[in-house]
Amino acid sequence: MKRLTVPKIKRRKFEGKTEEPLVMLTAYTARQAQLLDPHCDMLLVGDSLGQVIYGLPSTLPVTLDMMCAHGAAVVRGSYHSVVIVDMPFGAYEASPQIAFEAASRIMAETGAAAVKLEGGEAMAETIAFLTARGIPVMAHVGLTPQAVNVLGGYAARGRSQQEHEKIIRDGQAVSDAGAFAVVVEGVIEPIAIALTQSVEIPVIGIGASAQCDGQVLVTEDMLGMFERVPRFVKKYDDIAGMIEKTVETYAREVRDRSFPGPEQTYQPKK
Ligand code: KIV
Ligand code: NA
Repeated sequence: MKRLTVPKIKRRKFEGKTEEPLVMLTAYTARQAQLLDPHCDMLLVGDSLGQVIYGLPSTLPVTLDMMCAHGAAVVRGSYHSVVIVDMPFGAYEASPQIAFEAASRIMAETGAAAVKLEGGEAMAETIAFLTARGIPVMAHVGLTPQAVNVLGGYAARGRSQQEHEKIIRDGQAVSDAGAFAVVVEGVIEPIAIALTQSVEIPVIGIGASAQCDGQVLVTEDMLGMFERVPRFVKKYDDIAGMIEKTVETYAREVRDRSFPGPEQTYQPKK
């Protein structure tokens, strides 16, 4: 199976609509990527790995080193999906030049097809700068977790008219700047629908609307790895419960010496 490309993803939105929604999930490891890859169009190496993998309190402490290491693992574990790597907080905001240094390092060290960054109008110049220099950019507007300290939390965005208009302007700005797609996170549905209808590029929703051009979730959230998840997450399974049960069985068998059994034990040749 040949790997999808960024232009192919962008072209899936034709005359303002993506007929078959784009499927995106996060991936942080090679094995996880292998399992998700055949079913997805895009794999996102999200900076959500800060909380999910490293137990950090937010995405703010995530480093470029972490993103490069996990990005490379996901590229190695996938053959079909477009792999997109999040730019971590602090690595790109100061200037287009600084963003290019971080993004080019991600591209060179991971083999990913694109980077993602948070921000709308404020990042438009950076998006144009990177795209003109060979780095496709996915943008991320609405609830942008790296701005949690400015936003004051992770509550849904767009409930005031002012906020509503700002999010639409952000989406239009990143589309005009050359982003190939945009994630819209944690917004009231009318904004997600309006944005999807008003930009030429695919709009990927998370906590947004089924009318978006695609959907993304954090894989561990939708698998049921965590007790507490945002309201917009659907838990498709109870992986945490399965792991607990399995480990409980293992611990009991070790303690009562029924593991390892004869099948798992080497004996001298007869
Ligand atoms: O970091 C992440 O996982 C993300 C998605 C939730 C869009 O940015
Ligand atoms: Na992210």
